[in-house]
Amino acid sequence: MFHTSYIELSKSAYRNNIKYLRKIIGKETKFSSVIKGNAYGHGIENIIPMAEKMGVDHFSVFSANEAFEALKFKSESSGLMIMGLLDYEEIEWAVKNDIEFFVFDPGKLEKAIEIAKSLKKKAHIHLEVETGFHRTGFEYNYMPKLIEFMKKNRDHFVFEGLCTHYAGAESITNYVRVKNQIRIFHKFNRYFQRHNIIPNRRHTASSAATLTYPNTIMDMVRIGIAQYGFWPSPETHMYRFRKNPSESNYLRRLISWKTRVMAVKEVEPGEFIGYGTSFLANKKMKIAVLPVGYANGFSRSLSNTGRVLIKGRRVQVIGIVTMNTMSVNVSDLPNVEKGDEVVLIGKQRRLSISISSFCEMSDQLNYQLLARLPANIPRYIV
Ligand SMILES: Cc1ncc(COP(=O)(O)O)c(C=O)c1O
Repeated sequence: MFHTSYIELSKSAYRNNIKYLRKIIGKETKFSSVIKGNAYGHGIENIIPMAEKMGVDHFSVFSANEAFEALKFKSESSGLMIMGLLDYEEIEWAVKNDIEFFVFDPGKLEKAIEIAKSLKKKAHIHLEVETGFHRTGFEYNYMPKLIEFMKKNRDHFVFEGLCTHYAGAESITNYVRVKNQIRIFHKFNRYFQRHNIIPNRRHTASSAATLTYPNTIMDMVRIGIAQYGFWPSPETHMYRFRKNPSESNYLRRLISWKTRVMAVKEVEPGEFIGYGTSFLANKKMKIAVLPVGYANGFSRSLSNTGRVLIKGRRVQVIGIVTMNTMSVNVSDLPNVEKGDEVVLIGKQRRLSISISSFCEMSDQLNYQLLARLPANIPRYIV
């Protein structure tokens, strides 16, 4: 009740993915579950407890407001790390709550230490270093000053991690760039070692690097998309397949997105369907109207191209996707009625609509489509 569509999350698929990824990363490496973007659209309130039950005890978010939400659902013993934005005013809150955070510029580091001193607590910091992504990270030429500052303030922080992020490990076209980043990261690491400032963990790999560059799996990995059952790109999938064709427990999608038929109607030949003139019925047609539109995360660019499943058959979106509805062509389906189940993403009988096919049609990335699924669509674990 009170919703126009719903999302189902498969617990067994999640278990499968965690097991598959753990086999790749090995026993010694910590698994940090990346739950930014409302756990890539899956809902942090669902993913955190499920992940903890499967032995995951570390979570990564982008910002303080995401960390604030995550704190409500994680158990006390699980770590929580902010990888992106943490304003100076929020650092005090993070330090008080033992939340780990990336530090990538001198100002933020100085502020963190100042606050830690005033609170008589240690700041749990991960130093991000610039290896070639060119987003955030300390430059190599800043190292002497950084080391000096860290030595002077040793008592006020815990050096939780030394980290970086790769610029496109999901595509072979970036091979040289990524290899170069790995080399530069080790250069940073050696610098810290030489000065006897040793991080608790070194971590560089997201899903793509974990799956395709084994030497980026260090003391911790930060896995987002793969835990939800999606390959970061077709290339990463091919890499795993060619490496070990008999590999079991391949990634499985957790998410299914469903709705119900809202109305069925017949349209005479020569009539336009929906807003404007983008679809003309050239014969007598039967259409089903669905209560999902772009306000619900179904992209308008899927107008006249998207597909959904009804009664185990694939049917096409016709006309323009509106804010709250879309129409699909059910002319060839007998007995479609108001209330019939419609699968927007996922399986129905023997057919399925994958997010990737969906994304290709609408020219979006998996990541983008998932993160745009509105938080108010109810999610159920099945
Ligand atoms: C710093 C950082 N680490 C890890 C991840 C997780 O990436 P993925 O979802 O590809 O595993 C991201 C996501 O963009 C990120 O920005």
